[in-house]
Amino acid sequence: MTLSAERIVLGVSGGIAAYKAPDLVRRLREAGAEVRVVLTQGARAFVGPLTFQAVSHQPVHTDLLDPAAEAGMGHLELARWADRVVIAPATADCLARLAAGLADDLLTTLCLATEAPITVCPAMNHVMWRAAATQDNLATLVQRGIDVIGPEEGSLAEGESGPGRLTEPAEVVRRLIAAPAAPRTAGHAPKSGPLAGRHVLITAGPTREAIDAVRFIANRSSGRMGFALAAAAQASGARVTLIAGPSTEPTPTNVERIDVETALEMHAATLARASASDLFIAAAAVADYRVADPVTHKLKNSREQQTLALVANPDILRDVAALPNGPFTLGFAAETEALEEHARHKLTAKGLDMIAANRVGDGMGFEVADNTLHVLWPDGAVTLGPATKGQIAHDLLTIAGEQLDGAG
Ligand SMILES: Cc1cc2nc3c(=O)[nH]c(=O)nc-3n(C[C@H](O)[C@H](O)[C@H](O)COP(=O)(O)O)c2cc1C
Repeated sequence: MTLSAERIVLGVSGGIAAYKAPDLVRRLREAGAEVRVVLTQGARAFVGPLTFQAVSHQPVHTDLLDPAAEAGMGHLELARWADRVVIAPATADCLARLAAGLADDLLTTLCLATEAPITVCPAMNHVMWRAAATQDNLATLVQRGIDVIGPEEGSLAEGESGPGRLTEPAEVVRRLIAAPAAPRTAGHAPKSGPLAGRHVLITAGPTREAIDAVRFIANRSSGRMGFALAAAAQASGARVTLIAGPSTEPTPTNVERIDVETALEMHAATLARASASDLFIAAAAVADYRVADPVTHKLKNSREQQTLALVANPDILRDVAALPNGPFTLGFAAETEALEEHARHKLTAKGLDMIAANRVGDGMGFEVADNTLHVLWPDGAVTLGPATKGQIAHDLLTIAGEQLDGAG
């Protein structure tokens, strides 16, 4: 699939990552899109209109209150022309102005005036990204059906590290292709349902920890429970982001899927999005350890014995539960014995809001269609099933939704 004949307005705001936007224009055009660029005043301090004019082969739009520009393709015309509006990079300031419904420049006015779906690709310093104001603004935008791509975890312009990097242009294009433009109301969460207006973040599947170029440590998780939860959350009205380890399960309709391989990648992808979500469900079977020193070539089997040194992976669930303005956290516990005791201990030790425990081993839990879940929260418990993972997922979300509403 491509972006063939799609008309995209690319808004560029004034962040350091604006230097990557011309590359995004080039890649969008290569994918078949027709691109019109709108620059904020801030963006023009970083990259000039001439660069964008050269790569887009179109005039660049910069001013709202310019009679000549308005006589050409004016702001309303641009708003109607677009099949999709993409803002990359989206600064903290731009997100704030969009969330407030301001129309004080061409880009924000156009966003208010368009019925096309809008995707924002935030990029900023990690402290700005984690700031309560930025996260609140993002949550408001998400609730209004605006799509968010990124930011990614990694080294930032000022030499620090954390979530805030603009998603690479090639990945932005891949994600736009994977989520075809649809009217904002139809392509997103249904407006009704127990989780309407909520953003649910789910991890699913196993992780793979490389030993060498061809071998890895993994586990038996199929991802089926997490994918069933993603489908059920979407059907309950939520906007859903699914962070998936390697799994052959199909992506549920209207669910944003982010593929990762290792526990470290899953940790980074999750922590970058957790504060902007209302409910976090950790259904992935994350490797507790990774190989300390994986080799890039294939290990020879010349030795009688081979010892692998392992180091602990970060605890995704614990780190999300510890976030100051974090989401409601629902963890899973797969146990072979003393199910409830272990699950309640995990609930308390990790500071979770709810835990769903299932028995594994002897053909139960992993790689099977049916499941039984023991759901515990600080002052309650219920057993679900045995039933299909789809039914269990629906029932579990109903309970989580009730607790989430109770938690305010
Ligand atoms: C050198 C420099 C780099 C900046 N980088 C970013 C950034 O990456 N992300 C961001 O949100 N703001 C960044 N800012 C702040 C914005 O430029 C500022 O908030 C501006 O008002 C944004 O305007 P706009 O959103 O209308 O483009 C940076 C400022 C400077 C001086």
